[in-house]
Amino acid sequence: MTTPWSLRRLHTVDTAQIGQLSDVLIDCVDGGASVSFMHPLSRDRAEAFWRHVASGVAAGQRALVVAEDAQGVCGTVQLVFDLPENQPHRADVSKMLVHRRARRQGLGAALMRAAEATARDCGKNLLVLDAVTDGDAARLYERLGWVRVGVIPGYALWPGGGLCSTTVYYRQLEP
Ligand SMILES: CC(C)(COP(=O)(O)OP(=O)(O)OC[C@H]1O[C@@H](n2cnc3c(N)ncnc32)[C@H](O)[C@@H]1OP(=O)(O)O)[C@@H](O)C(=O)NCCC(=O)NCCS
Repeated sequence: MTTPWSLRRLHTVDTAQIGQLSDVLIDCVDGGASVSFMHPLSRDRAEAFWRHVASGVAAGQRALVVAEDAQGVCGTVQLVFDLPENQPHRADVSKMLVHRRARRQGLGAALMRAAEATARDCGKNLLVLDAVTDGDAARLYERLGWVRVGVIPGYALWPGGGLCSTTVYYRQLEP
């Protein structure tokens, strides 16, 4: 089956890609996702975030995977490698984001499979992430075999205010 998107890892991030990644992040916050930012998320703040990510990618501290459709970037996920020196075998999974135009077609699952494959390629065998408890993302991760560690109540704010809990997950990767 052909999909309306293609996936690739970016080793450098240009200005146009920063703009498209910002569109995805702003759309997710507009849609009510708790992904570090409050609503409304300005373009300036979104672009500053992605410029920071771009620096990390250039420095080898992060791996950035994007999905692109006919309109540009429609989804993304990151692996964070910038961890203490006693954890060289693991990475944090961060900022799994799918634009609302591309949701519920399997892209979230495809991005996670790509993140896991990238992690293996980079010699990692343990991944960790957290997600809003019982949300769309948590359901996705559990379906993909991530192991639920536990819930931290009142961990973060929803973009419109009010506390939400987070659930911590891990996944061990086969070599
Ligand atoms: C969480 C998120 C990444 C999921 O992305 P997605 O592309 O919609 O994910 P998938 O399509 O793989 O799965 C989502 C649902 O669509 C369903 N689905 C997948 N392919 C489908 C298809 N072809 N037809 C119908 N339904 C389909 C899945 O079964 C799943 O159903 P469920 O929610 O009832 O469990 C997305 O909702 C998102 O970006 N949310 C906002 C940001 C966020 O919260 N990120 C997580 C940070 S931890």
